[in-house]
Amino acid sequence: MSAEGPERVSKFLARAGIASRRHAEELITQGRVMVNDHVAVIGEKVVPGLDRVFVDGKEVIQGAKRVYVLLNKPAGYLSTCHDPFGRPTVLSLVGGVKERIFPVGRLDMDAEGLLLLTNDGDLAYLLTHPKHRVVKEYIVETRGPRDEKKIREILSGIIIGGKKIEVDYARFLDVERGPVRLLIAVHEGEKHLVKEICHAVGYDVERLTRTRIGPLTLGDTPTGKWRYLSDQEVRALYGAAQKGWEGEDDAGKSKNRIQDH
Ligand code: URA
Repeated sequence: MSAEGPERVSKFLARAGIASRRHAEELITQGRVMVNDHVAVIGEKVVPGLDRVFVDGKEVIQGAKRVYVLLNKPAGYLSTCHDPFGRPTVLSLVGGVKERIFPVGRLDMDAEGLLLLTNDGDLAYLLTHPKHRVVKEYIVETRGPRDEKKIREILSGIIIGGKKIEVDYARFLDVERGPVRLLIAVHEGEKHLVKEICHAVGYDVERLTRTRIGPLTLGDTPTGKWRYLSDQEVRALYGAAQKGWEGEDDAGKSKNRIQDH
């Protein structure tokens, strides 16, 4: 008998490090997941240890070693595991990692900076779901102008796709010369969110670099290079997501602020 209770197939797959829960649901929708002798459906539950789960015909076994990789993504790489058009993916940059890892959240092909890859579907879910409020910080290079009114506009909540976007903080960075640089932090994960926020206030985005996910910063890992996270960093990421979750009890309180770095 299994000591564990039933759980959704998507959660089972995420725990096994096959994909994030969102991607696991896509696999189920695509009919690539079997439970025992039938094709799995969304919402279906399995009992770990009793039911057998297969992806693309291969049985999924729990208990693979968890690995966590920080990549400084260069522009020109897709944040996916596989591209049907054969374009370069971030996985091609992390040679030497034996485990089957996937990117946590998305960075546009032309975006750069901090990308986390892991086979820990639980952490991927915690970091990407907006209810956990884990802040992702970006530096935007734009032709400007450097106008504080635009920062106030961004902080007041731009409407995108009918939804008011809560920006956690935003400010200009001091630069002696070159393009205007804007630091902007969000905890939501819609496609092209930062670009859309910038475009909404009239800024072009010449370059977009993610520099932080919660407590984890890009640091000095060179562009195109990667390193494993330390246990302490992994614990800090879990802690940030769990703290964010508790923070939801403060419903209605605006967290918008301009933060000093
Ligand atoms: N916002 C964007 O516009 N692009 C990214 O890649 C990430 C956040």
